[in-house]
Amino acid sequence: MILLSTLPMRDLSRFNWAAHFESNNNHRLQIDFTEEPELTPQEKKLISPSIQSFQKGEASEGRFLLHCARRYAGRNHAPEYPEAMKWFIREENWHSAYLKKFMNYHQIPARPHSFLDDVFRFLRKTGGLRSEIIVLVTAEMIALSYYRALAACVPSPALKSICRQMLKDELPHIVFQSHTLYKLKSHPLERLLRILLMEATMTVVWLSMKDVFLAGGYSYRRLAADCLGYLQQSIKLEKDGRL
Ligand SMILES: [Fe+2]
Ligand SMILES: [Fe+2]
Repeated sequence: MILLSTLPMRDLSRFNWAAHFESNNNHRLQIDFTEEPELTPQEKKLISPSIQSFQKGEASEGRFLLHCARRYAGRNHAPEYPEAMKWFIREENWHSAYLKKFMNYHQIPARPHSFLDDVFRFLRKTGGLRSEIIVLVTAEMIALSYYRALAACVPSPALKSICRQMLKDELPHIVFQSHTLYKLKSHPLERLLRILLMEATMTVVWLSMKDVFLAGGYSYRRLAADCLGYLQQSIKLEKDGRL
């Protein structure tokens, strides 16, 4: 598990998220396929279903999320928040584009639907900004372990570079969402719900992507320890507003 406290973000109350995402946007990953080997049919079969699922999940336009962010900003005098959210959504879409590029290179077709993505989208829209953020950050914490496992699965330099970029981007995302939950001042009972949601989600993800996790060196126990460890860090940040 990676510690969020290693990130160079000290004073979160003054951190300029829009500038952070905009700067990332100016330094996007150039995927190098010059050393890329051809994947064996077994390797393709192993990684394709979960990559298709994540590629779909990262591609959300985030219209409802942006609508919630604008409403929150209007009520709480936080005009910078929708701008930061707009850049955040763009960064997620870059993640989808990286995976799509990899899929195109290896002739892995995109999927119009993903069961997991459909469930996440449904859950995110069950309330306002709070439920959007809670579901989103849960998925992001699980994604950290997924991309680490995926990088170790197949001997692909391109995929390893994509997974490295995902980790670099997703860690600050977890801080961004957790700090929003701090500002939203959630009820202690909600923290229990976050634990239950994490336990249910990581179990479903494990059941549907077990082969990738196992090939990447993850047992269920390791996945659970990582995910619950990230959740603990996120809840601490949600409670006191600091890393
Ligand atoms: Fe992402
Ligand atoms: Fe993310």
